[in-house]
Amino acid sequence: MRSLDEIRFWSRIMKEHSLFLKLGFRCEDTMLIQEANHYYHIFEHIEGRSHAYTELTDPEQIRRFNTEVSSAAAHIWAFKRKVLGLIIQCKLPGGNNFPLLVDHTSREANYFRNRLHELNTGQLEPLPDAIIDENIFFLRIMADHAKFIGHLLDPSERQLVEQARNFSHDFDQLLFQAIDLSGMRPQSQTDPLLDQFLDQNRVSVVALRDFKKTARDLIEACKIKSIIHPLLADHVFREAERFLAIIDMFEQCLTGNPIRGMMEEHRGH
Ligand SMILES: [Fe+2]
Ligand SMILES: [Fe+2]
Repeated sequence: MRSLDEIRFWSRIMKEHSLFLKLGFRCEDTMLIQEANHYYHIFEHIEGRSHAYTELTDPEQIRRFNTEVSSAAAHIWAFKRKVLGLIIQCKLPGGNNFPLLVDHTSREANYFRNRLHELNTGQLEPLPDAIIDENIFFLRIMADHAKFIGHLLDPSERQLVEQARNFSHDFDQLLFQAIDLSGMRPQSQTDPLLDQFLDQNRVSVVALRDFKKTARDLIEACKIKSIIHPLLADHVFREAERFLAIIDMFEQCLTGNPIRGMMEEHRGH
């Protein structure tokens, strides 16, 4: 079932967010650290179960699992928003979680919960709307990643910081283009425009994905100076791969054979 693939991907992501948040808290914030650990274990458990289920599992059992996971996603979202509030009100001075990073991870939790809700209730958006909305979501995510990388690299890594800044600018531009396209709905939702939109986004996502892969390898080999956790480098790389897979799936739906239940199948991976 499609929701299993979403859960396998995003529960690992949520688990890692818990770890990143924990690492950014101060030692004295023991309650927050405990709460982060709590979510780590919850999503680790969910991840394990999602790999134990298969297409042969009783659909009713999967549906119940989806509901349970969606509730866990709602809870970690609330935790992240609470942390964001604390940081913004300067209640955690000296902590190392950027407000934008916490907001970003809460948007991913919200996306995860919405996806599960859509899949569970069968209320999927029509393809042209899904193409625009998913791209707006992921382009902003990619733009944020470029900004995080730029700010967590050591300032002396001038070339890499510069590259990260260029990616940030590139994705900000793509995001605004996507918002413009969205504003011109439904007139803008022609096949040629949507096809070009996907092609253009893909080019930049491939470049960013490759940059993240290089950064990840350099960080793992301890070849560059930064305060980026190797797992965070891999995490943002995987999210770019996810976006690419979604773009390719949309492209296939647009150009492929749209006769058989496209609406139901268009995000079926
Ligand atoms: Fe993430
Ligand atoms: Fe992310």
